[in-house]
Amino acid sequence: MKLSVIGCGYLGAVHAAAMASIGHDVVGIDVDQRKVDALAKGEAPFFEPGLQEILTDGIASGRLSFTTDMAAAQGAKVHFIGVGTPQVRDGYAADLTYVNAAVDALVPHLSPGDIVAGKSTVPVGTAAELTPRVEAAGAVLIWNPEFLREGFAVKDTIDPDRLVVGVGASAGDDVVETMKEVYAPAVAKGTPFIVTDLATAELVKVSANAFLATKISFINAMAEIAETVGADVTQLADAIGHDARIGRRFLGAGIGFGGGCLPKDIRAFSARAEELGKGESVAFLRQVDEINMRRRDRAVQLVVEGLGGSAFEKKIAVLGAAFKPHSDDIRDSPALDVAVRLHGLGAEVTVTDPEAIANARAKHPQLTYIEDRDAALRDADAVVVVTEWDEYRRQMPPEHVSTLTDGRIVVDGRNCLDADAWRAAGWTYYGMGRP
Ligand code: UDX
Repeated sequence: MKLSVIGCGYLGAVHAAAMASIGHDVVGIDVDQRKVDALAKGEAPFFEPGLQEILTDGIASGRLSFTTDMAAAQGAKVHFIGVGTPQVRDGYAADLTYVNAAVDALVPHLSPGDIVAGKSTVPVGTAAELTPRVEAAGAVLIWNPEFLREGFAVKDTIDPDRLVVGVGASAGDDVVETMKEVYAPAVAKGTPFIVTDLATAELVKVSANAFLATKISFINAMAEIAETVGADVTQLADAIGHDARIGRRFLGAGIGFGGGCLPKDIRAFSARAEELGKGESVAFLRQVDEINMRRRDRAVQLVVEGLGGSAFEKKIAVLGAAFKPHSDDIRDSPALDVAVRLHGLGAEVTVTDPEAIANARAKHPQLTYIEDRDAALRDADAVVVVTEWDEYRRQMPPEHVSTLTDGRIVVDGRNCLDADAWRAAGWTYYGMGRP
C-alpha cells in the first residue's frame, strides 16, 4: 500500500522505515531539509537499534523515500501524522502547533477516501477538532496512537503489544479493513486490534503513559519510606511483583523517569483534565511528577553524604547521560539533571555515556565529557551510576574500578549494581531506597 508519514522525528522516521520494511511504499515528509537529506541518504538521525538496517534496506528497495515536498503525499492511501507535541513554553499543556500545521499542509493534497491517521500523542478532543478540516477534503480522520518505547522502537512498531484504531461516527468498515491491511503482519499473528471512538483512542495513549509513570513513582514513594526505616525497596518490589495483579515490570526504583514522553505526557494530561473541569480526577499526577523530581534530589544528597558533607571541588564520575539505556536521547534525562546539579555544587563532574555524549554536550556544554568509561573513572572521588547501561551494570567489576579511582564511594542511582560485590571490594555502596 502507498503510505505517507508526515513528521520524521523519532516516531515518524521509525514508522516510515518500519512500514517500508513490511512491504509498503512509503514517503516520509518533514519540513526540516537537513533531517530529510540525512534520512534520504539512509542515515539514522538518532541511535535506535535496528533502525539503520531497515532504513538502508528500504531506500535500496525503492520503497522508502523522504522529501520536504508535501505534494509527495498525493496518491497515498493512508497518511500518518507523526509530528511532535512538546510542552508549551509557559505551562504544562501540549503545544499543537505542529499537528495543526501538518494537517493544514496535508489537506490540499488529499483525495476523497484517503485516511489521515493521527499517531502523535494529543490532548483528548484534538481529533474531533481536526475532523471537519479533513472531511472537507473528502478524507477520513482516525486516531492510531503509538506505544513504542525508545530502544525497542522498531520492534514495537512492527510487532506491537496491541493496535488501537479510533474512528469517528462517519467512518465506514472499509477504514478499519484498510488499517488491518497496513498492519497485516501483526494482525496475522493475532495482535489484539482494538477499534474505539476517537476520544477513547486518544485517552488510551495518555492513560497508558500516566499509568506507567504512576507505577514508577509508586515504587519511588516506597523507596522514600524504605529509606526512613532502613528497608530495601528492591526486595519489596520483587515481593509485591510476584502478585500477578501487580507485576514486577516498571517497579524499578531509582532516579525516576525522564525522556520525551512520560514527563510531558502526564503534565499535558493534567492540563487537559483541568481544561475539562476534571483536574481533580488526575490530581495525583502532580504528585507522581513531584515524587519523580525528588528522587534526583535524593541521588545528589547521597553523593554529598558519601563525600562527607560537600561535593565542592570533588571529582565525580557520572556514568550515564541518556534518560535510559539503548538510547542517545537526553530529553528530560534524570541522569544529566543529577550531573548538572552536582556541577552546580562545585564538583568537578566528568560524564560518560556510550551513545548520548554528543547530545549531552550540546545541551550542557559546562560539563566535562569523556567517551572512554575508564578514563572518566580515573582519579574520581565518587562514582555515580545514573543510566543502567550494560557497560556499567554487568561489565564493570568493582575490583577493576578500584584500580582507577581515588575514592571508594559508589551511588547507584538505578539500583543496577551488585551491592554485595561492591561492598566486598571495599566500597561504600549507596542505593536508592536500600539500606
Ligand atoms: C514510554 C512508554 O513506555 C511508551 O509506551 C510510550 O510510547 C512512550 O513513553 P520511553 O519514553 O521510550 O517510552 O521509555 P520507558 O522505557 O517507558 O522509560 C521511561 C523512563 O522511566 C526512563 O527514564 C526509565 O529509566 C524510567 N523507568 C522505567 C524507571 O525509572 N523505572 C522503571 O521501572 C522503568
